[in-house]
Formats: sequence, C-alpha cells, structure tokens
Amino acid sequence: MSSLRTLSTLLLLPLAGCLSMEEPTQSIRSGVFGQAPSGEDIHWYELRNSNGMIARVHNWGATLYELHIPSAGGRIADVVLGFDDMEGYLSGDNQYFGCTAGRYANRIANGRFSIGDNEYQLATNNDPNHLHGGARGLDKVIWSAASSGMDSVSFSYTSPDGDEGYPGEVSIVVSYTLTEADVLVIEYEAETTAPTHLNLTHHSYFNLSGAGSDTVLDHELQLFASRYTPTDDTLIPTGETGPISGTPLDFRTPTALRGGAEALASSAALGIDHNFLIEGAQGALRTAAYLHDPVSRRSMTVHTTEPGLQVYTGNFLFGQTGKGGKTYAHRSAVCLETQHYPDSPNHLGFPTTLLLPGETYTHHTEYRFAW
Ligand code: BGC
Repeated sequence: MSSLRTLSTLLLLPLAGCLSMEEPTQSIRSGVFGQAPSGEDIHWYELRNSNGMIARVHNWGATLYELHIPSAGGRIADVVLGFDDMEGYLSGDNQYFGCTAGRYANRIANGRFSIGDNEYQLATNNDPNHLHGGARGLDKVIWSAASSGMDSVSFSYTSPDGDEGYPGEVSIVVSYTLTEADVLVIEYEAETTAPTHLNLTHHSYFNLSGAGSDTVLDHELQLFASRYTPTDDTLIPTGETGPISGTPLDFRTPTALRGGAEALASSAALGIDHNFLIEGAQGALRTAAYLHDPVSRRSMTVHTTEPGLQVYTGNFLFGQTGKGGKTYAHRSAVCLETQHYPDSPNHLGFPTTLLLPGETYTHHTEYRFAW
C-alpha cells in the first residue's frame, strides 16, 4: 500500500492560491479554469521549461489541455486538441481530449468480465461495448491536484467500489512532469480494495503542426512493434495477434499515416484504430513510437512500460470547434495511447490487467519532443 500512500502524503499542498505568480519560468502558475456541473471550481496548472515548452493541465479528468512546442523556425504551436473552457469539456464535442482514460481505457466486450466466480456487468457506453471507463469514466470526474515540486503536478482520485460496475475501491494518482530535456512524463500508481481490472492511459490528440491544422495524414509514424490485435466489427480483439507485415498497419519504418488510414477508411474503425504489441519486456521503459511532422519538423517519441499502444487517427472527429475557434476536422490528430490490449479481461492469452489488493499498479509513459 505504501508507495501510493507515500506519494499521497507528499501531495498535500493545494496549488491554487498558494503559488507565486511573479516568476512564471521558475514556478507553477495556477488559476480557475471553470466550474464542474456541481458548481465546484476546476483549476488549471502550468508547467514550463527553459526551452519554451509549456504544458497546461486541469483537474477535470486530470486532463492535458495545452502543450506548446517550439519549432526550428522559432514558431511555437499548441500541438494537442482541447477546449478553452469547461463548456467544451462538458459537451458532446469532447471525445476524451487529453484526458486520463479509465478505469479501463479502450473497450471491454459487452461490458462484461469475470473474476473467479464473480461476474461483473459494466456500463455499455459504446454499443454494445464498454469504452474508456463507461458513461462517467475518470475523464468526467474532479481530481484533487497537488504539487510534488516545481516541474510536476499530480492528480489523485478514489473511484468508489461499484463505480460504473467495477469491483473494488481504487485509489489512483497520475502525475505530469515537464523536464528540461523536453520530455512530458506521465506516471500512474493505483491500488484497490478488491480484485479488479485496471488499464489507464493518456488520451491526447496530437497534431505536430498545431491543433486545428488540416490533417495528420502526412505525419510519419514509426512503431516499435511487428504485431497487433486484429478486431471484429465492434473493435473488440478476436484474441489472436497478427503480423503487421503485409497489412496497411506496417509502420516498422517511418511511414506517412495517409496510406494506412485511407486503406482502412471503409473498415469499422474508419481508419487506423488498432492496438500494437510493443516490442521488449513489459515493465521496462522502451520506445513504442516515433512521430514526425515534415511540415513543422517537430517530432515526438513515445516511451512506455506498457505492453501495448493504441494508434487512433481521429477517425471520429467531425469538425467540432476547439481552442481559439479552430476546427477539428476528421483525421486532424492522432492519439498514441500507451496501455494494455483491449478487452484483456476476456483473453487469457493477453498480459493481465488484474489488480489485487496489496499490489500497486504502475505505469510510466514519456512523450519526448524535438524540433
Ligand atoms: C478509441 C477510439 C474511440 C476514441 C474515442 C480511442 O481511444 O480507440 O475507437 O473512438 O478513443 O475518443
């Protein structure tokens, strides 16, 4: 239980109102972002580094809502989709933009799993399946924020026993750290009071030319994976794993997203929306993906301890209006979500997502930027 409790103990300082506003490059700034449906204030927090990167997060869904990255030409762009206000986050236009997704990110078939003799029925919010924790997942709750240093903000939340059908009370801490090496580090820890399944991820939509730019189809993607989890028409894995060689999903060398996304346009996923098996040992931090934008020449590599990576080319974006009045068109962003494979509770051959009392769930992901 210890490590989570230790971390929580370090995080008692509420940020809003306590932080210096005078030295923005030296200290975390914060303020009121808006109000939750309950009327409670939602706060924003800002992380900066001395190379010009700025990350802004808020405690509705432990969400990253701005990520400003310089370019070689000296221009700074905000490379993640999001909204300027709570109205956007609470609206149907919000497709999990930048949130912490869970308790189970991705899909569980028919919202059902068993642990021992106990069967559980979860909320089925993505007919007929369960998606991203249900109708009121971790993206739609107020997290408690705290500081664990000047370069890091942590959010904690306790999901009650029975939440969206899941067993066990689960205590979660997710922290965002921005380093001087231009790395956004996201770390997770969680514990449960009863056996349950847990699969957390970060759900930013990236466009390295800047959020609201046309499409990401010319972005080049390299995956450190040679197998994926084929799915049925409701995007649930068949249980097999298949080689990406010879499919539109072969990104073993840097390849524009266009070919794969267009080849899969008439599939159920409407494009790329697949989970890849990251090479190397689960639990070790290793490279999962490299994303490069030939226009801005910004790049991002993704490193993770997780076994899988969901690549989603924004196929369900429909032209909603985001930050600064910009339009978020079909395929104008890509999500690179580090996680376990979809529907793992129902596939014994997949790495397990079972979390038992006394165990600590840990997950470490890094988004490393260069320009
Ligand atoms: C899933 C998509 C889903 C999207 C919702 C992604 O993580 O892979 O299938 O539509 O989240 O925003």
